[in-house]
Amino acid sequence: MGEEMINPSRKGNHSFLTSFFLIFLFSSLQFQLSTSVKVEDFKKCTDAAFCNRLLGTRDEGYYIDPASVQFSGPSVTARLLNKAKGTDVTLTMKAYKGFVRLLVNEDASKKRFEVPGVLMHDLGSREAIWSKKAQTAQSLLLQLEDAEMQLQYSPFQIGISIKGKPVMSFNGRQMFNFEHLRQKQEGDPEGWWEETFKGHVDSKPRGPEAISFDLEFPDTQHVYGLPEHATSLSLNPTVDLADNATSEPYRLYNLDVFEYAPESPFGLYGSIPFLWAQKLGVAVGAFWLNAAEMYVDVGKTEEGTFTNWVAESGILDLFLLLGPTPAKVSEQYAQITGATALPQYFALGYHQCRWNYRDEADVRQVDAGFDAYDIPYDVIWLDIEHTDGKRYFTWDKSLFPDPVKLQEDVASHGRKVVTIIDPHIKRDPGYYIYQEAEQNHYFVRDKDGKDFDGWCWPGSSSYLDMLNPEVRAWWAQQFALSKYKGSTPNLYVWNDMNEPSVFTGPEITMQKDNLHWREVEHRNLHNLYGALFHQGTAEGLIERGKAVYGSDADRPFVLSRAFFAGTQRVGPIWTGDNCADWKHLRVSLPMIMSVGIAGLPFNGADVGGFFGNPDAELQTRWNQVATFYPFFRGHAHLDAKRREPWLFGEDATRRIRDAIRARYVLLPYIYTLFRHANTTGLPVMRPLWYEFPEVEATHGVDDEFMLGPALLVSPVLEEGAESRAVFLPGKGPWYSARTGEPVKPDAGGALTVPVTMDSVPSYLRGGHIMPLRERARRSTAAARKDPYTLLVALDSEGQASGDLYLDDGSSFAYKRGLFAHRLFSFKDGMLSNQELPGNPSPPRYSTDLVIERIIIVGLGHPAKSFSVKEVGTGKVLQTGAGPVVQEAGVPELALVIRKPELPVTGDWSIQLSVTA
Ligand code: NOJ
Repeated sequence: MGEEMINPSRKGNHSFLTSFFLIFLFSSLQFQLSTSVKVEDFKKCTDAAFCNRLLGTRDEGYYIDPASVQFSGPSVTARLLNKAKGTDVTLTMKAYKGFVRLLVNEDASKKRFEVPGVLMHDLGSREAIWSKKAQTAQSLLLQLEDAEMQLQYSPFQIGISIKGKPVMSFNGRQMFNFEHLRQKQEGDPEGWWEETFKGHVDSKPRGPEAISFDLEFPDTQHVYGLPEHATSLSLNPTVDLADNATSEPYRLYNLDVFEYAPESPFGLYGSIPFLWAQKLGVAVGAFWLNAAEMYVDVGKTEEGTFTNWVAESGILDLFLLLGPTPAKVSEQYAQITGATALPQYFALGYHQCRWNYRDEADVRQVDAGFDAYDIPYDVIWLDIEHTDGKRYFTWDKSLFPDPVKLQEDVASHGRKVVTIIDPHIKRDPGYYIYQEAEQNHYFVRDKDGKDFDGWCWPGSSSYLDMLNPEVRAWWAQQFALSKYKGSTPNLYVWNDMNEPSVFTGPEITMQKDNLHWREVEHRNLHNLYGALFHQGTAEGLIERGKAVYGSDADRPFVLSRAFFAGTQRVGPIWTGDNCADWKHLRVSLPMIMSVGIAGLPFNGADVGGFFGNPDAELQTRWNQVATFYPFFRGHAHLDAKRREPWLFGEDATRRIRDAIRARYVLLPYIYTLFRHANTTGLPVMRPLWYEFPEVEATHGVDDEFMLGPALLVSPVLEEGAESRAVFLPGKGPWYSARTGEPVKPDAGGALTVPVTMDSVPSYLRGGHIMPLRERARRSTAAARKDPYTLLVALDSEGQASGDLYLDDGSSFAYKRGLFAHRLFSFKDGMLSNQELPGNPSPPRYSTDLVIERIIIVGLGHPAKSFSVKEVGTGKVLQTGAGPVVQEAGVPELALVIRKPELPVTGDWSIQLSVTA
């Protein structure tokens, strides 16, 4: 059988009737493009020859040669052929604990690009052994733990089931295609050896080399992930039942998209080719390690969801993650690409940015403003205007004459400074960075071998070749205090424009036929480029830290705009240039969650919206939501009005102060969540379905979220809202986070709550304990010695548990075991504190900090009196008379144990007796 195009509509020729029907059927799902983004600057699938060729293209001609199938414990190899195409490639199927890896490649002499540096070095240690269940002339049946995998030879197809239930099939729709490398011939089709977009010619010297396939998820209505797109979390279909296109496919191509539209499948600044599928009882994932331009179609039928993927070059290196719980999928992905770097504690506080804080006086004034208005913050940011003519690592001497003194003064208030360092290097022979890089041939070259010259902020610029490890090492050295003049150990870094953004290039980025180290074409690593730059920068800060503080160094903090799989090991990202409108506030939630479940939880959106001017209401609401963003930074465009928190009137100032203070109260809990991200890859801001996969109604929700397992937030996202429809899944009990009152939704979990401008509807999940720090301070540094509060929310059995992770908050000493991870549990009125089972006890990190308050909600009745005794000594810690202790900031219906002064890193149990 030959190949067949099955999505003629993407070619624009479907009939009027079909169009009418499709519009009717999918009108609610269609992506709306706002007018701000210049859509025509960016390619659609039909503008990209490889997407045009392969997306939606079937080919039943691929088959496995049965005689070639070889079985060796952890891997199976076979020859995959297509006679009509003359393709002969090798398929390898490797077994690992919890996931399967499919590899398809040509023989090594073809030198197809394989993405370096993303996979974990210890991946091999996770290898598992297939057990062969059956082999016939048509197929091979293998087993791995609970999963069975069937390889069908002709037509080539792979099916996976877990506990007897099908969960995934590869090439069930025969959309696999592998364009093998070939010699140019007379009469080759147009687009094979050259293509043009908006006057930019791509010379494509290697010809067609794209790869495509389909993956189907039976009985599944929701798939997620594939960031970065400004879309709903559950991905809308892009093709209809008959595989006709209903919108553009999801595109993964790192681009600098000016004022991106809030409902669009267009590719943004970062790409992680990792897709989740969730159905009742099973979560699975698929990760394609490929950094070339990629498109993915999603289609839904009553039988399930199918996806069709195509990438321009590289190899097929596809990981199929077998879950079956969301936490397991996260863990498996972390085993493949690594877990989140543990951030410094300060990095979780509030960040104040703007393009630009003009000069030293401006910075000092903003810094002082936070103290004057009693608002905590940790970091002040300097954008591109602080440099001498956009030469990074330099200072505009008239505006910043004494940057060291400035940083020291900011540091004396316990705060940090971040400066921006972008990858475009001004082509100025007098600029030392340019000079050294040029002499050493460290720049990306154009197709003719000359240093690539593109236009960015400084004007004519060259771009460092970050694929070359030598360039990354050299780049890292530039952050040494002796090299980066005017920097101090208190300065951290922001990498922007690293997609890379090239104002004069095709789609505002670099030509695909540009050349990197060892003659690799840019097209192969485009989506990885920014991550490599980010990595080089972070390595620089680690080296600097070693020089300043010794071997435990200082954890780096580098914010990046571009990202790829593996970025989580390096540092945070933000979602780029959003706008000051309600739609962008709303879409920030699915964007942050989608990046988070793709293994990169440390991310956030510009608070207030980058472009435009939020009014007091939007700015207030945005801060109230961002309290819970994993990364919390206010930022604004050069032309936007000033937006420091106190500039929106008294009421707004008070509310924004409350929102930022609430963030600081939550920090012990948030830092603990990051420790989980750091060990097992769990996201921090989580979709409801992540915590309640068994509640089907959660699977499509993305206007509410969980912060960790214990707190549900249902933020106000609409202008002028007077009420909010809230969904509280599961059996509960749930308690209002403000009053501690039990909240009773209807049988389906729904309730509507009235809201004022002070409301941030959020709910404590019964059964969980959250560690908090309640004293209002000016920064995380100022709170370093503060005692803790435990907020205990009981489940229907009167039980709860939770944990608190502690370390020095800044160095790598935790990697040597210098941390404490406490487990608190409450049962039968007894609250105990012990080290997490499995960790050394006593922990190797200890402090003399104490618990200063224990707040218990869910006792079910107001206590008339209570007593608290230390178990073991019998010492009475406290007695109290009820009914209820009223205190500012404490839920009204809580029992409060004041000043028990129990050591936070010491083991103890206390018994609470309550008289109702
Ligand atoms: C683009 C970034 O997205 C934005 O945050 C920054 O302010 C400007 N570049 C200027 O550096």
